[in-house]
Amino acid sequence: MLLEVKDLVVNYGGIQALHGISFNVDEGEVVTLIGANGAGKTSTLMSLARLTRPEAPEVRRGDILYNGESILKTEPHELVQNKMMSLVPEGRHIFGNLTVQENLTLATYARKGETSEIEDTEDLVYSLFPRLKERRKQRSESLSGGEQQMLAVGRALMTGATFIMLDEPSMGLAPILMYDMFRALREINKAKNMTILVVEQNAKVALDFASRGYVLDTGEIIAEGSSDVLRNDERVKKAYLGG
Ligand SMILES: Nc1ncnc2c1ncn2[C@@H]1O[C@H](COP(=O)(O)OP(=O)(O)OP(=O)(O)O)[C@@H](O)[C@H]1O
Ligand SMILES: [Mg+2]
Repeated sequence: MLLEVKDLVVNYGGIQALHGISFNVDEGEVVTLIGANGAGKTSTLMSLARLTRPEAPEVRRGDILYNGESILKTEPHELVQNKMMSLVPEGRHIFGNLTVQENLTLATYARKGETSEIEDTEDLVYSLFPRLKERRKQRSESLSGGEQQMLAVGRALMTGATFIMLDEPSMGLAPILMYDMFRALREINKAKNMTILVVEQNAKVALDFASRGYVLDTGEIIAEGSSDVLRNDERVKKAYLGG
C-alpha cells in the first residue's frame, strides 16, 4: 500500500474537521474522495501533505503511512525532496508574475543534476498541455483559469513526484477543458504509473476518472467502493448525482 490513512482526526483549534477517517491508495491507482462543500476534502489533502502553514489543520489522532511508515513527523519539503508526493492545491497558487516556463522550472528545485529527466518531464507536460507550450513565455497571471489549472498540474509533475494529489481540479473549468484535464491525468497514470488521489465535488466527473473512491460527508467516510458501485449507491445518487 502506498498510502494508508488510519483513523485520522484533525482539528482547527476547537473545530474538528475530520472525525476519524480511514482510506488507502495503492501504487499506480487513481482514487477519488468525493464530498460537498465543507466535507473535509481540503483538510484531508493538507494533512497528507503535512502542511504546516497557519491555516493548515492539526492531526489529533490516527496515522498517515507512506510505504508503511508514518509521515506524521515528516516535513513538507522532505516529501517534495524525496519525490513522495506533490499537491495541486485548491486555488492553484501559481506565481502570476513569472512566465509559464519559469513556473515549471521553479518546481524542479529538488531535482538537482537530473537535467535530462527534467527535460523529459517538461516534454511530457508540454505534450499533455499544448496550450501551455504555446504560452510558455507568457506571464502566468494572464492565463485563463483553465490554463492556470493546467500549469498547476504541470508544476506538480515537474517535481518528479510519483504520487500527485489534486484538490478539485475541475473547479471553474468549462466541460471541455475539464475533460482535457482528466484525459491528460489518465495518460500520465498509464504512461508513468503515476498514483493519483483527486478530491472533487463533481462526483460524476470524479467517478468517471477514478477506478474507485470514497465519499466524505462532514468529516466522515460514509461509503466506499469501485466507481461503478458508488455510481449506483443510493446515497451518492441522491446527494451527488442529482438523484
Ligand atoms: N482554517 C480553518 N479554520 C477553521 N475551520 C476551518 C478552516 N479550514 C476549514 N475549516 C472547517 O473545516 C471543515 C472542512 O473544511 P474543508 O476546507 O476541508 O472542506 P472541503 O471539503 O475542502 O470544502 P470545499 O468543497 O468547500 O472546498 C469545514 O467545516 C470548514 O469550515
Ligand atoms: Mg476544499
